[in-house]
Amino acid sequence: MSPRKIIIDTDPGQDDAVAILLALASPEDIEVLGITCVAGNVPLSLTSKNARIICELVGKPDVKVYAGCDRPLGRELVTAEHVHGETGLNGPVLPDPTMPLQDMHAVDYLIETLRAAAPKSVTLCPLGPLTNIATALTRAPDIAAAVDEIVLMGGGYFEGGNITPTAEFNIYVDPQAADIVFKSGISIVVMPLDVTHKALVTSPRNAAFRALGTAAGTAVAEMTDFFERFDKEKYGSEGAPLHDPCVTAYLIDPALFKGRHINVEIETTSELTMGMTVADWWGVTDRPANALFIKDIDADGFFALLTERLARL
Ligand code: BDR
Ligand code: CA
Repeated sequence: MSPRKIIIDTDPGQDDAVAILLALASPEDIEVLGITCVAGNVPLSLTSKNARIICELVGKPDVKVYAGCDRPLGRELVTAEHVHGETGLNGPVLPDPTMPLQDMHAVDYLIETLRAAAPKSVTLCPLGPLTNIATALTRAPDIAAAVDEIVLMGGGYFEGGNITPTAEFNIYVDPQAADIVFKSGISIVVMPLDVTHKALVTSPRNAAFRALGTAAGTAVAEMTDFFERFDKEKYGSEGAPLHDPCVTAYLIDPALFKGRHINVEIETTSELTMGMTVADWWGVTDRPANALFIKDIDADGFFALLTERLARL
């Protein structure tokens, strides 16, 4: 089978960085058409810089990186330096990028690329707030035809939220955008906290990254060293959850994951539960299924895949 053509929409973020590395390490499975950046974990100027730092870390300066929306559709930007550090990529010391940011706005790039693509030929992989994707779909609804699937990290049901008691960060930052995407009619795969909190970088898994002895392996070990302190303190978990790499791992080996096709709606009005992913896991409504909501992961298989692929970089 030919590799899946994807566009990664991202707000790096240490876990975004690992997701990007996994994609770049897997050319037989994934062709990265471009990386579009959005404001989220840190402001847009930093996310669009961090994406390029990651590409250069592994000698891929030709990847096209675009800057997109610098704020959510209808709310003030909320960022997550408390998790990711001031730069968004705290942990390793990495040089500033020399590769250019593309001139085109990420939303224009999404529209132009999808309009030129064959029906159902491109997979969108959002790893941050859904502002760029929703803006593109609103401005050019016809582009939906070119999208094979949207595989995204966001939401949570059994785990509750990580930024409010009921909301996960990516959805909370731009609930209006998430609502547009979940109502788009495009086939959606969701990696919520319910699964990503099972993808934990335990000490032996971190040691395996470090033991690769490569720039990528060392950087991933140092990033997860930094990133884990937040979740260890908050949840008492064993290590950093690799939220976003679940998306790119799913593209490579979907058999690592299990979920249900269900209805998922986004809360956009109540301040108390703003950004909640109201997931009808038990089928108690007659609302039609609009997403494959993932709940389980073969974590050992996931880390074996990730380590094997990172070793190539
Ligand atoms: C999500 O929010 C960000 O902090 C991470 O990069 C991930 O995309 C987890 O809630
Ligand atoms: Ca992210």
